[in-house]
Order: sequence, then structure tokens, then C-alpha cells
Amino acid sequence: MCGIVGYAGRDRAAEILFEGLKKLEYRGYDSAGISTRDRGEIFTAKRGGRVEGLRLSLKELKGTVGIGHTRWATHGEANDANAHPHAFGRFAVVHNGIIENHAELRAELRAAGHVFASQTDSEVVAHLLDFYYEGDLADALRLACARLKGCWALAVLCADFDGFAVTRRGSSLILGRGEGFMAASDICALGGRSAFYCVPEEGDIALVTPSGIEIFDAELSPVGRAFSPVRDVEPDSDKGDCPHYMLREIGQNARTVRATCASVARLPGLKEVHSRLGAADRIALLGCGTAYNAALAGVRLLGGAYDACVTAHIASEARFDPPGLTARSVCIAVSQSGETADTVMAARAAREAGAYLVAVTNVGYSAITRVADKVIPVCAGTEICVAATKSYVGQLACLHILASPGRADVRAAQLLKAADGIERVVADGSRALEIARLCVRSRAVFFIGRGADADAAVEGSLKLKEVSYIFSDGYPAGELKHGTLALVDESVLAIVLITDEGLAEKCENAVEQILSRRGRVAVVTTLADVHRRLSPRTDAAWLLPPAPAHLSHFLTAAALQLVAYRAALLRGCDPDKPRNLAKSVTVE
Ligand code: M6R
Repeated sequence: MCGIVGYAGRDRAAEILFEGLKKLEYRGYDSAGISTRDRGEIFTAKRGGRVEGLRLSLKELKGTVGIGHTRWATHGEANDANAHPHAFGRFAVVHNGIIENHAELRAELRAAGHVFASQTDSEVVAHLLDFYYEGDLADALRLACARLKGCWALAVLCADFDGFAVTRRGSSLILGRGEGFMAASDICALGGRSAFYCVPEEGDIALVTPSGIEIFDAELSPVGRAFSPVRDVEPDSDKGDCPHYMLREIGQNARTVRATCASVARLPGLKEVHSRLGAADRIALLGCGTAYNAALAGVRLLGGAYDACVTAHIASEARFDPPGLTARSVCIAVSQSGETADTVMAARAAREAGAYLVAVTNVGYSAITRVADKVIPVCAGTEICVAATKSYVGQLACLHILASPGRADVRAAQLLKAADGIERVVADGSRALEIARLCVRSRAVFFIGRGADADAAVEGSLKLKEVSYIFSDGYPAGELKHGTLALVDESVLAIVLITDEGLAEKCENAVEQILSRRGRVAVVTTLADVHRRLSPRTDAAWLLPPAPAHLSHFLTAAALQLVAYRAALLRGCDPDKPRNLAKSVTVE
């Protein structure tokens, strides 16, 4: 998945596109490029590496119309040749998505004399446009798209057209209207220039020129699409005083819980969702990565509140092995971006099976909101860091409220107390640094816990490996002795979460098993007794503010996010843009 942006207006396009790409860089940062058009000529600058690498070339990009791209490599390595835009004939193209039948199309076009310059799937689009072009850009795009399989958001510059064309299928695309006319993968790239935005329908083709935007359906009949004020969804993409987005966003955990409670506990239609859940035969939660880890926590929460069989599924698996949903089932799809292809596809499949679809998402205009019967908003605000932090605690807050039929207000009040606790954890992060130092000295880090702490352990492990590249894994503490203990020696650290008095003794057994194999141990606990007992015997012990067991997950999440952040810095890693990753994964 990548980020695309286009501009047509009165100002020089290159700088506007450059600023837009910087905002989209969270979507991929393997290479970047811009093409502009001026008096029938296309100018292109592109190269491997970050968007910043384009800065010196901007002055060479003439014109007030152009398109840009920041790439997360899927086909072909991250080098200059594979950077977008891809040009052929009179066209330059940027693409977010995957063209699944690119090899077949490439062979066909080669046979017709086309010579390819990159290893990307995307380049075939420029060649197809050239193949079908008879003077009408929109028609060539329609014909080219009819040959494609996969998913795409495309922006196309044509030497003969004073503007650019865009279309989408399965990938995100937003149109913007204000000072000039724009298109982008995310509203954040509309850069304060657009007062109104519109999400075109699947298959729509839009022609964007310095004088306006014309939208057509897939058959090229003109269609009207509603524009909404951008201020309603104004992104907050400022780092503030923080050196990294990750730290800023961890600092917004408490605010996220408060905002989510205020919004969800009084959400119109919440009663209907509660009664659907109450009547369900099955409740299946779906997600990927951190969102899946939130779904794991959701199983415990919803399983304790409803009679239905409650299960969590990795979305990429659920799509092809659906969890047996019926018209009486509820599917809860969890996704920060609402654009994750695996989650959107699995959610669609659940709906096709007849299930009532609830989307727990942070982006109110995202793809998943268009398939859902009901959207439960995670009110985290824009999350820029690739590692999910505040969106995770927001997802947990939503799941708590979904698990509180008839007493959402009571649960919301408890969550507000948890928010106060999070603030205290974040304000006193000195222990995080101590534990991070142990992490960076270790060959591997195992996160363990019991009950809800086991779910928190899995997420803590994902966070650490994602931003610091230290090998880690998360387990229920009791599982350690069934295999993983074989790996434990003095070069291994176990981070042990203990927040439930009823399970503390069993967790302490696991600590003993590790210590007797000379493994290192860091304890993270909300229980003063546990802290008192274990701190003299372990390498580090962090006493978090007291919290009831069912809410302690919020505190351990924040604590482990801080540990991961500190470990990334100690290892010289950029926590906001981990290598090989991107924020929203819009390809399968
Ligand atoms: O936008 P989504 O919540 O659907 O994204 C799912 C995962 O790609 C995401 O949570 C990923 O695992 C994060 N980088 C984890 O920090």
C-alpha cells in the first residue's frame, strides 16, 4: 500500500504535492516521486528512499497540475526504477493497490511491442492507457480498468489533458475542493487547501482540472457525489513538542479513552447493537495485527457478557475460512484505518453470510464504514505512527462498552478512572527506560501473563518487535513450560504482567521457573504485594497505579508502549516509520 496525491489549480503543483506526500508517508516510505504537466509536457522526479529526497528536484517540476506517490514496495525492490510515477507514451501513473494479473497483461503488451522499465505491477496501467488511448483520457482509463484484476486507486496524468484523472476500486481515494482541486489516499494530504471532501464510489472516474472536478460512474455517465466539509474530520497531524509521533500518541491514550467513552456510551443505536449481541448465536471479532489483539481482549469482555459463542479471528484467515456465521450472528470488525484489505474483505464475507456487521474504527469515512450496519467510533484522532498505540486503547474502550448492555454509562465511568491511571503511567515512564535497557541487552524477549494479561502480553510483544526489531513473543504464562522455556537462559528477558490477584500466584510460579534457568525478569504489576515480593528478586519491577483486573489492560498497554518506544530509541530505530512496514495495509 502506498499514498497517492494529485493537484490541479493555479499554484505550482510540485510543492503542494511534496507537502501532501510528506503527510502520506506513513503509508509507505520505500520510494517517492512526482510528475507535473506544463504546456503538453510531463516532468518527473522519482527516487528510492523517503519523500525528503525529492526536495532538490522540485524546482525542475513545472506546471500547476500534477500527481505524486509514496511507495510501500510489493512488486519489485525499493529502487529508483520501481518508484512511481510510471510513464509510458503520453501518460504518467501513480497507483495504490495491487494489479493481480499484471504478469499476463505484461506478456500481452510486450507482444504488442511495449518495453517495460520497472518490475512493478503498476507499470502495466501506463501501458494499457497508451494502448487504449484515442484522445479521450476518461475512456482510456475506463477501458484499461476493465482489464485489471486486483485493487487500485489510480491517478493519471496525460500530456494532452490540463488536469488529471483518478479512479478507485478497493483502495482509498478522497477528492478535495477548495483552493484548487485535489485527490489523495487520505484526507490528511489535502493539506488545508480543501474545504470540502468527497469519497467517490467504487469504479467512479473523476477528471480533476484547475477549474473543477467532474465525476462519472464506471460507464462514464456523469454522476453527482456529495461533498462534506473537511472541518468535520479535520486531521490532527502535528507532532507537538514530542520528538516522535509515537510518544505523542502514547500521551494521547487517556484522551482517547475519554473521548471514546463520551461518544460511544451515548451513541444513537447502541441499544440496537446491544440487543443484536444479546440475541446472537455467534459473535465473531475480526482484525489484523494490533486490531486482532484488541479482538482477543474483546473475546474475554463479550464472552463474559453474552450467551453467544464469542471468537476472535485473524482477518486474512477468516476470509477464506469463515467462522460459520448466520443471520443471527454478529461480526465485529476492528480496524484503526478501516482500510485494511484483509479486514474489509473478511467483513464483507461475514455480511454476505447474513451476519450483522459492526465496525470498530478510527476513520469515519473509511471503506469499512461503507459495508458496516453500525459504526462504533474509536475517537483517537489521527494516528500517524505506524505502530498502533492510542487506537488500541480506544478499541479496548469500544469493546468494553459493547460488553456492557444496559449499563454503558456505568462502564464509561469506570473507563474514565482507567484514563486517569493511564495518565499516571505515562507521566512516570522512568521504569520504561529501565526495562527497555534490559530489552536491548537481550537476545529475545518473552511477554507473559494470565487472563487479560496474556492478551496484553501479545500486544506488548508486537509493539516491541515492530519498532525495535528485537525478537519477541507473547504467551499465556502457563504455556512457557510447554516448550518456550527451552529457550530461556541469561540472554533472554521475560516481561511478566501481573494484574489479577486471583492469578498472581500462578504467574509467580512462572517467574520462579525463569529465574531458576538464569533468565532475566522484569515485572509489570498493578499489585503492591506482588511488587514488594518480586522487586528484590527480579531485574526490574514497575508498580503501576492500582486498577481493577478488568481495567488494568489499559495501564499495561500504555506501559508496554513506552517500553517499546524507549527500546527503539536505544537501538537507534525510527519508531514512527519501522522498516518494511506501512500504516494501512490496503493489499491482501
Ligand atoms: O488499520 P488497522 O487497524 O486495520 O491495521 C491493522 C494492522 O495492520 C495494524 O494494527 C498493525 O499491526 C500495526 N502496525 C501494529 O502496531
